[in-house]
Amino acid sequence: MPLFAHDAVPFAPATMQFVRGQFAYLERDPHGARRLFFENSGGSLRLRKASERALEISHYPDGSSRPHKAARELAGLQDQGEADLRAFFGGDASGALLPTATASQAMFVVIRAVAENVSGTNIVTTAIEHPSSYDACVRYAHRTGQELRVAQPDRTTGGVDPSAIADLVDSGTSLVSVIATSNISGTITDIPAVIKAARAKNPHVYTIVDAVQYAPHGVIDATAWEVDAVNIAPYKMFGDRGHAFTYLSQRLAQLDHDRVGGAGNDTWAMGSAAPAAFAGFSAIMDYLVAVGGTRAGTGRREGIVAGMRAIQGHEQALLHTLIEGTAQQTGLRDMPGVHVHFADRVASSARDLIVPLTFDHRSCADAVRAYEELGVIVYERVATSHYSERILRSLGLEEVVRVSPLHCHSLEEAERFLTVTEKIAQPETG
Ligand SMILES: Cc1ncc(COP(=O)(O)O)c(C=O)c1O
Repeated sequence: MPLFAHDAVPFAPATMQFVRGQFAYLERDPHGARRLFFENSGGSLRLRKASERALEISHYPDGSSRPHKAARELAGLQDQGEADLRAFFGGDASGALLPTATASQAMFVVIRAVAENVSGTNIVTTAIEHPSSYDACVRYAHRTGQELRVAQPDRTTGGVDPSAIADLVDSGTSLVSVIATSNISGTITDIPAVIKAARAKNPHVYTIVDAVQYAPHGVIDATAWEVDAVNIAPYKMFGDRGHAFTYLSQRLAQLDHDRVGGAGNDTWAMGSAAPAAFAGFSAIMDYLVAVGGTRAGTGRREGIVAGMRAIQGHEQALLHTLIEGTAQQTGLRDMPGVHVHFADRVASSARDLIVPLTFDHRSCADAVRAYEELGVIVYERVATSHYSERILRSLGLEEVVRVSPLHCHSLEEAERFLTVTEKIAQPETG
């Protein structure tokens, strides 16, 4: 796969203007200070309409299971939200949806169900998984007496090669759990290749994909991928915090799991539904369709995919600007005092819009403070945190500054970031 996952096609000026108009706090922080928010891997810039719609629906006192008019309206919003989730996941009606408060909760629920109900002797995962899935694999492999096998990443690409995962799969593998985009290196896993290679070794294996980091940047296709579970968190994709969604294949949905009495075998939601969360998600999908600019009457899935493809084109242009620079401004690759990781020209995998940096003359924590003073928000990932230790060390790193802009940023803003970085990279004098 090439370094740039898709052709770099910046938004047309009218699209850029539309996109920028939709986001809250894009140019200034909540206190009015000018800033560049390049920390979208930690929780993304938010679509005004997604939050406004969710708030509007939160004001309803009605429960969506009741028969009166306002309640039926809420039930309708939930149905629409579920249809939109299926469209976004590329899942069909036979699969189930699991709403949870966080993506981590979903991973523990689903990995537990597979570990406890699918016979096997081992679970396969990778060293670059987020703890939400990795720690669930550790816990439930241990509780069910299975071996945990961990594929190591390629330190040149920052990702895990499908063959490194498939090498660990055998007839005893019950589950393969893999991340779609690393939240630290930004490298995209070739999910269809992983699933195909794993199934070639064991046609019965269950597969679970953490798409939390991938979802704001790429097209999920649960049906084409033939994946058994894939999760997302709207707060990483332009929406609110407080809820996450997972799509489950029909066969996974049938596995035994906790549920309230009377619920069908394939019902995974427990307790009262939150129509506001579904309405907020539908507002995000409306936005993607608008960005895609498909003709009226185009199917929802096609409209969503068109929006995401346009976003990918612009984000690859931003990535290109950051790494290669512009006519006036040196890019990260050639900037003295800065190291941009996993951007090797020759041995590269496709990457999302996440750029890990280190500096010759500063620690990452120090660089993050210097960025803030110059009006840029980024974040350091360090090996002293449980959330990054295993991942960083498997990649041969102790720390990085993670730079994660979003498609609503302009190429001029990417250039501004480079100018700031050049200042930070200078040795301090005096
Ligand atoms: C790749 C990835 N997976 C899972 C999660 C967990 O999401 P949540 O905070 O909703 O549990 C995160 C959060 O940072 C993430 O980056």
